[in-house]
Amino acid sequence: MVVEIPNEIQNIVIFGSGLMGSGIAQIAIENGYNVTLIGRSMDKLQQSKTKLSNGLTRIAKKRFANDVETQSDFVDGCLDNLRLCINSDEANLEDADLIIEAIVENLKVKQKLLAEIENVISE
Ligand SMILES: NC(=O)c1ccc[n+]([C@@H]2O[C@H](COP(=O)([O-])OP(=O)(O)OC[C@H]3O[C@@H](n4cnc5c(N)ncnc54)[C@H](O)[C@@H]3O)[C@@H](O)[C@H]2O)c1
Repeated sequence: MVVEIPNEIQNIVIFGSGLMGSGIAQIAIENGYNVTLIGRSMDKLQQSKTKLSNGLTRIAKKRFANDVETQSDFVDGCLDNLRLCINSDEANLEDADLIIEAIVENLKVKQKLLAEIENVISE
């Protein structure tokens, strides 16, 4: 499935740094979006960042074969677009153009999160 992101979107906030959240974050930073990834602990977020960075390195090696410097610049440039947060208060939700919920598959937990953020997000 291909999802078109409207041009006016620059700042993306993703709740959940598991398989889906970190995969979406990787694709978004790779395409130049500013991403704030919100997880439950800094440890988990750092683990996600490491996986994500490994994924970007694999892409860089394919895209810029035999050019180690450009590979490294590509990965660093993408990672510059990533911010890690454990607290949604620090995530500037009011400035987010797009918020993606990718937390645990539990309806009550998802409803609680959506109710919490509803009042602070922009239209
Ligand atoms: N993995 C897939 O292939 C897939 C495909 C389609 C849809 N989904 C859906 O995407 C969602 C996430 O799936 P996943 O595979 O990434 O799960 P996952 O278990 O890998 O990640 C979920 C993450 O959410 C975190 N979390 C839980 N509550 C949170 C909260 N209040 N705030 C921030 N983070 C919180 C957990 O700590 C965990 O890191 C689920 O609803 C799942 O059904 C997953």
